[in-house]
Formats: sequence, C-alpha cells, structure tokens
Amino acid sequence: MNPSLQAKRILLVIGGGIAAYKSLDLIRRLRERGATVRCILTKGAGEFVTPLAASALSGQRSHTDLFDREDEADIGHIRLARDADLIVVAPATANLMAKMAGGHADDLASTVLLATTLPILIAPAMNVRMWLHPATARNLAALTRDGVHSVGPNEGAMAEAEFGPGRMAEPLEIAAAVERLLAPSGPLLGKHVVVTSGPTHEPIDPVRYIANRSSGKQGHAIAAAAAAAGARVTLVSGPVALPDPPGVTTLHVESAREMLQAVEGALPADIGIFAAAVADWRVAEAGTHKMKKDGNALPPLALVENPDILATIAQSREGRPPLVVGFAAETRNVVEYARRKLEKKGCDLIVANDVSAETGVMGGDSNTVHLVTRDGVDTWPTLSKADVARQLIAHLGTLMGAAPR
Ligand code: CTP
Repeated sequence: MNPSLQAKRILLVIGGGIAAYKSLDLIRRLRERGATVRCILTKGAGEFVTPLAASALSGQRSHTDLFDREDEADIGHIRLARDADLIVVAPATANLMAKMAGGHADDLASTVLLATTLPILIAPAMNVRMWLHPATARNLAALTRDGVHSVGPNEGAMAEAEFGPGRMAEPLEIAAAVERLLAPSGPLLGKHVVVTSGPTHEPIDPVRYIANRSSGKQGHAIAAAAAAAGARVTLVSGPVALPDPPGVTTLHVESAREMLQAVEGALPADIGIFAAAVADWRVAEAGTHKMKKDGNALPPLALVENPDILATIAQSREGRPPLVVGFAAETRNVVEYARRKLEKKGCDLIVANDVSAETGVMGGDSNTVHLVTRDGVDTWPTLSKADVARQLIAHLGTLMGAAPR
C-alpha cells in the first residue's frame, strides 16, 4: 500500500448514525496509508460501535467524554483539537452538522470541533429527508463558507428501506478525499529551505551566557510558512520558548558556532533564510567552572568575533543556496544599513526591520519590513509576523519560479 498519508495525524470524530460501523473500516484504510488515527465518539456513536472497537483498530485510546478527568489530564480537549493534521467527521449526522454550523459545544466532539483551527472534512450521513431538509442545506452552506470540506453523501438504498441521497461515502472514497486534502502542494513543493531563528547563547561559564532579546517568532513563522508552501524545511533554532513548528525538521543549537555547523550539515538547500539574531561576539575562553566573586577584581571578559553564518553561506563557493535571504534588525537608518549589509554579506535579499524599543517588534507579534534587493526597496505595511512570513515565502516562490535552474 502506498504510504500516501505517512506521518499524517488524523482525528476521526465518529457521529451517532448507523454508518458509524463503516468508520471502523475507515480507521483501517487510513492506517494502511500510513496515518495515525485517534478517535472521538459521540454518545450516539457509542450506541452503534464501541470505543473499544475504535481503540483496537486505531491502536490509540478513544475519547468520548468532555468531563473525563483521566482523559483531560492525559491529553485534554484543546490538545485533541490541535495535535493533528486533519479532523474527519464520519458519519457527520444532521445533528452534528447543525451543532458545528451553530458553534455549539456541549460534548467532547462538538467542543473539539469548535476549538480547532485544523482543516475539517465531513462525510454526511443521514436519512434522505433529513438531508433534503432546508435546515441541513443551510447548515452545509454555512459549514462550506467556514472552509469545512465535505465528501458525499451518496445516493442509494438506506437503512429505513428508502432510496436517495444520504448514504455516507464509502471508506475508500473518504480516504481518497483525505489524501487529496493532505497531498503536498504549493509553490515550494520539492524545494529544501533552511531557516535560522532565535537568539544564540554564548557561554561565559557553565551557568552564564551572553544572549539577546530575539524571540524567534519571525523565523519560526517563516519555517512554518515554507512548510505550508510544500517545502521540506530544516529549522536551525537557538534557545526559544516556542514549540517546534509542525511538519518542520527542527535542530536545536545554543551558540553561533553550533548554528553554523548545523546549517552547513543541512545543506544543500534551494533557499537559505537567516532570521536568527546571532550573537556577534563570544567569550574567548568560556570558563569550565563557575566564575567566583574574587574580592574587588572584576572578571576579565575577552570577546572574539563569531563566524557570520549568513556571510559564510552566501559567499561559499560550494553549496551556496541559489537564494540567500538575510535579515537586518536596525534601530536607525534601516534601509541604508540594510543596503550595505546586502553588499557586505553577499546575499540576494535583505528583510530589514526597525527594532527600536518603541516599535515593539522584538518579542511582539507584528512587524513592518522593507525588502531590500539590488533593484530597490519594497516597504510592506505593518503585518502580523505570520503574514510577513506567508508573503515572504510567496515572494520567494515567485523568485524561485523566475530563476533559471
Ligand atoms: N548573521 C549571521 N551570523 C552572525 C551575525 C549575523 O548569520 N554572526 C545574520 C543574521 O541572521 C541576519 C544578518 O546576518 O540575517 C544581519 O545580522 P545583524 O546582526 O543585523 O548584522 P551585523 O553584521 O551584525 O551588523 P551590525 O553589527 O551593523 O548590526
């Protein structure tokens, strides 16, 4: 079986309809394609299939109750709503669809569906009259507007000896819809992108270090946006308080020298994006023991320059990514300094931003950037760091498309 869903995590919400028995087969179909499947059963679903059957087939504990103390302590409904690539609702009963459309949250399944920002695929299944009722049509239209995907229902003989649309799509059809939704795509499909992010920590002794205020938010958002654009992404991150972005290979480093080594190890790449705030200097000889206060004498801290990772990679003869992007964090003469940096370091593009304290950029969630190239400057309006990341990646995708291979 082609592992088309390798490493994909699917949360399957099983609604309370007779088609629930087909969802057990769906678990098997998804797993044989490489997916990890976790199940939530509504109370109604429990009347048709057992949580034990869903657990046995998925190989994971199934969840049923919003107020299960053990469950909440173990994984929690918010994590259930977050830790997956896709939520599949099958069968999506008329009632469950109505709850989703209305934003109700009165059990575990509906609460997770309201709390999530993940893509959702529903496989409606209900009696033909319920399907054809204007209320269901309204709910489906609302869900579609909200970005919910659907597969089926099919036409055919139904449990109540009626005929018409309302039969849940077959497990193989649902699996194919899942494959389509999770198929890698995007302008950077097939490209490898290396991103540096966060600060570096330069040791003074085993307990002290030199650092800076970089949060890593912009670099991490860029790594996530590149992955969403279909790229294979290696993120080399200094110490940050952020989770590793999903779908990205994250290498954790501390110092500038470790960061350079990790970047060199990650090459070749099609694009290198150097968003880290690398410490310019390190202590020449970091102490192997904790420095002690010694009367009045202040400890001598001799500094030496760190390797410039961006310049090293941008100027390397072998293995230079075709597109090298640097950042310039300045507090004045932003564009002018960025132009000089572009030349000095030898990159193709500098994303320059003003990080003066009053801008709140350092550690904040928004950013005002100028894209500086040899051809000129493009100043963007103030955007969230996630939007800066998405637009930058879209721009790089266009540049890659235009560049001769
Ligand atoms: N950079 C790097 N390695 C370093 C220093 C900087 O890779 N040792 C990269 C940063 O990731 C960023 C760019 O270089 O993409 C600009 O960094 P910045 O610290 O602003 O530049 P400097 O060369 O240190 O210039 P200045 O001292 O004027 O701030």
